[in-house]
Amino acid sequence: MKHLIDPTDFTKEELDQVVALGLEIINNREKYREVLKFHKLATLFYEPSTRTRLSFTAAMMELGGNVLGFSDAASSSVSKGETVADTIRVVENFADIAAMRHPLEGAPLVASMHSRIPIINAGDGSHAHPTQTLTDLLTITRELGHIDGITIGFCGDLKFGRTVHSLIKALSRYKDVKVVLIAPDELKLPSYIKTDVCEKLGIPYREVRNLEDAIGDLDVLYMTRVQRERFLDEEEYERVKDSFVLDAAKMKLAKPTMAVLHPLPRVNEIATDVDPDPRAAYFRQTENGKFVRMALQYLLLQWQDDPQHAMPEHPEYFRDEKLRCTNVKCISTHEKVDPLFHEENGVVRCVYCDHKI
Ligand code: CP
Repeated sequence: MKHLIDPTDFTKEELDQVVALGLEIINNREKYREVLKFHKLATLFYEPSTRTRLSFTAAMMELGGNVLGFSDAASSSVSKGETVADTIRVVENFADIAAMRHPLEGAPLVASMHSRIPIINAGDGSHAHPTQTLTDLLTITRELGHIDGITIGFCGDLKFGRTVHSLIKALSRYKDVKVVLIAPDELKLPSYIKTDVCEKLGIPYREVRNLEDAIGDLDVLYMTRVQRERFLDEEEYERVKDSFVLDAAKMKLAKPTMAVLHPLPRVNEIATDVDPDPRAAYFRQTENGKFVRMALQYLLLQWQDDPQHAMPEHPEYFRDEKLRCTNVKCISTHEKVDPLFHEENGVVRCVYCDHKI
């Protein structure tokens, strides 16, 4: 069964196929109007969303299919204590494919372990957001014409920003990509992404404190919101919330071809005086999200039983009943799950959330 839980579940060829089909759909809308007629998507959203849920819904509708689901955990039986595993065993009887957003890291992975239908991670806590990544890859392709060789700056909340974590993992599959990390000390990229992704897979990166120091070098500037809902300490949020603001004055320092991306929603980090700038690609990015989710649903339903598109094997995973993840935002600290871990460079991590044990 093929799922999309993490960007690394897809090979470079599969990522390219989704992006290419997204482009093909943009140019041939009529051809795809009924290709998923009689198919049903379940949207299981345990956390708020505007873009992801609505674009998944619009995508399935534009392919001729139907959508069912919930947009609030309180309106589902999770409020009565139903587990993710049991929920998916029920939903698979009603739908052909499911997109799940959950505040607990690893929840979509747990769902995929118990599912007979493809599961798509629509964002799990601070961990991953692979369909935003597909959106970003399509947007970079449309704005710049290529992904290989770009220098991309990630600015803002690189600690909790799941879209950043997922996009860096996917970019590791492309050639000659350089990364600039622009964040205050409190919001730096988690070390496991620097070591296990950037260093291990050879993505050169540098860390800077000021946006002005880096903006002139960038082909893509990926702005992010400081994720208030992920902070355990409100005072810390107040201290860092306005660390970086992109405005028209700073845009004067950027290349004329630089594309500004943002997964949205924004709060203060992009001033509205940037919106009329042709380099501001963030609302075009939102529309690309629908096209890429059309491509993804269509392909996952084709790939689901094809051994050529099997999920990657993980021989490094091991089971240990005595180990416990201590991340309070990990599904494994809330529900009984298979106690799986992996080890990299002598560091043991939880399979569900990647936190150090
Ligand atoms: N980019 C994104 O995930 O937006 P939503 O939270 O509105 O889905």
